[in-house]
Amino acid sequence: MFNNNTDNKPKIIIANWKMNPDSFGETDNLIKIIKKGIKKSDNLKVIICPPAVYLSKIKANSGFDLGIQNIFWEDRGAFTGEISAIIAKNLKIKYTIIGHSERRKYLNETDEMVNLKMQSALKNKLSPILCIGETLEEKKKDVTSGVITNQLKKAFKGISNIKYSISNICIAYEPVWAIGTSKTPSIDEIMSVNLLIKKTISNLYDRETAEKISILYGGSVDSKNAFDFVDKTGMDGLLIGGASLNGSEFARIVNLFE
Ligand code: PGA
Repeated sequence: MFNNNTDNKPKIIIANWKMNPDSFGETDNLIKIIKKGIKKSDNLKVIICPPAVYLSKIKANSGFDLGIQNIFWEDRGAFTGEISAIIAKNLKIKYTIIGHSERRKYLNETDEMVNLKMQSALKNKLSPILCIGETLEEKKKDVTSGVITNQLKKAFKGISNIKYSISNICIAYEPVWAIGTSKTPSIDEIMSVNLLIKKTISNLYDRETAEKISILYGGSVDSKNAFDFVDKTGMDGLLIGGASLNGSEFARIVNLFE
């Protein structure tokens, strides 16, 4: 059995702003509201993932750990519009979201691309926040476990040694049907996916690795459901979209985990 008591690991709360806000002025304002609203906590990590063009300015002003929402898998070269893990790392960015379902859906990102991005992130010491999760069709067909296992196997394919960075890897379970819909899985469903992720990582690597990786939930999180999604499921934290664009709501969520 896996240890569901994750009290010794810091809780991780990530804001995924997606393609928002429209201007740096609004971004700056949002950061200020979040900073003002958050009470200090030692056992808590807050990571902000803004649009990439705002990263440097936020880095200079905020003091938050930052993540980029996507990277390309090559280190440099003729890849118009793309940003490498090296560029992000040189901006002192620590995290990168990889394989968000919106990129899988709108930009046809495949598990193979996700795997290349995982390799590039790990090679360049950028911590991946790997997003996985089933679609509504897959849920209805009752194939969630197979989908999750398959996405994990493919994302970590050929990645033999992750020891140096295991404690910084996050895997976010984000059911596609729960993103931005106000629909959420039950506590039992989230708990069983948490255990499935641990079991799969344990099979791919070992039990210690499975225990050290941080497993997060994402999809229609707000200040009313956030605490239970962590406290009752054994999850290590949350990946928050819509609610993170409201500074005081995001701070309220963070403060639940003080
Ligand atoms: P949501 O998005 O919180 O708006 O559902 C979560 C995500 O896409 O990461």
